Amino acid sequence: MAENPLLEIRQIKKYFEVDRHRLLKAVDNVSFSIRPGETLGIVGESGCGKSTLGRTIMGLYEKTEGEIVFDGENVDQMDRNQRFRLHRRMQMIFQDPYASLNPRSTVLDLIAEPMDIHRTYKNHQQRRERVEALLKEVGLSRTHLNRYPHEFSGGQRQRIGIARALALEPDFIIADEPISALDVSVQAQVVFLLKKLQEEKGLTLMFIAHDLSMVKYISNRVGVMYLGHLVELAPSDVLYEHPLHPYTEALLSAIPIPDPDVEENRERILLKGDIPSPISPPSGCVFRTRCPFAMEICAKERPVFQEVERGHFAACHLHQRKTEDTEIHIGK
Ligand SMILES: Nc1ncnc2c1ncn2[C@@H]1O[C@H](COP(=O)(O)OP(=O)(O)O)[C@@H](O)[C@H]1O
Ligand SMILES: [Mg+2]
Repeated sequence: MAENPLLEIRQIKKYFEVDRHRLLKAVDNVSFSIRPGETLGIVGESGCGKSTLGRTIMGLYEKTEGEIVFDGENVDQMDRNQRFRLHRRMQMIFQDPYASLNPRSTVLDLIAEPMDIHRTYKNHQQRRERVEALLKEVGLSRTHLNRYPHEFSGGQRQRIGIARALALEPDFIIADEPISALDVSVQAQVVFLLKKLQEEKGLTLMFIAHDLSMVKYISNRVGVMYLGHLVELAPSDVLYEHPLHPYTEALLSAIPIPDPDVEENRERILLKGDIPSPISPPSGCVFRTRCPFAMEICAKERPVFQEVERGHFAACHLHQRKTEDTEIHIGK
């Protein structure tokens, strides 16, 4: 597609030092790009590196290696002012709205905080009016202005978190498991709200989730992570109907299907064993120790994350194109 990506990340690594001798490879060589106005879903089990990836993109963690290019600008080449402005354009919504909201601040102050930091209003009346408008956008009312986080339900608190993320009119939002802590009935409402806001404002969204069930609805494309690696990336419908990576198949098998006949007859891929430690990941393909199709080569060579079909990327020896060229292609 001709349009330039809003965000491009190239071979990002984030390693944590566990002690003097050991590194924990939380994110390892991840590359992808997101087009303006696109929603990219990122899924994978707990501990696979989704939050670390999000935080590294946001600049909350210093990356170990790799490049982050936002709107054509390499983040490493930005000076302090440019970085400060960049932080206005990128915002994050967190999984647990309660933990991420100061319990002693009123809704007014919580939502206005980013505006205070970036001085985006002239006086208190403007500040208050802006917060009232934001509350309306997320389905809350101005009667909530002077209340405290504990007075709200989980879904309402997440709405406060969303209003706060919108306060500076960002272009790009990373929503890190925004619905995982909510009741199932409330999950859909928050996803609908995010999708509505995304469409109205032309936002670019990275939506992180630990399973595939809600992600399809909101995402144009979905990436699947396992043990710090991006193992598959494809348009949502393609990923759901025609997954290439055995890990994606296993995640899809885990989603219940409402029709009992289909549910009874479908093939399931059940994974053996536990997720290995990211401190000592398996050689070759990191998924091989749990993969029902593992071959000899899987222990020896790390599969290259490459475009297997048009727009459909996977890192799996079942689908590797035989080539000496190990250039990493990134999703566009
Ligand atoms: N600040 C940190 N210091 C050390 N290890 C971390 C830190 N944050 C995350 N990790 C480790 O990195 C891995 C990925 O964690 P995380 O990104 O939180 O995964 P996810 O969000 O997919 O559940 C885990 O093994 C986790 O223990
Ligand atoms: Mg997380």
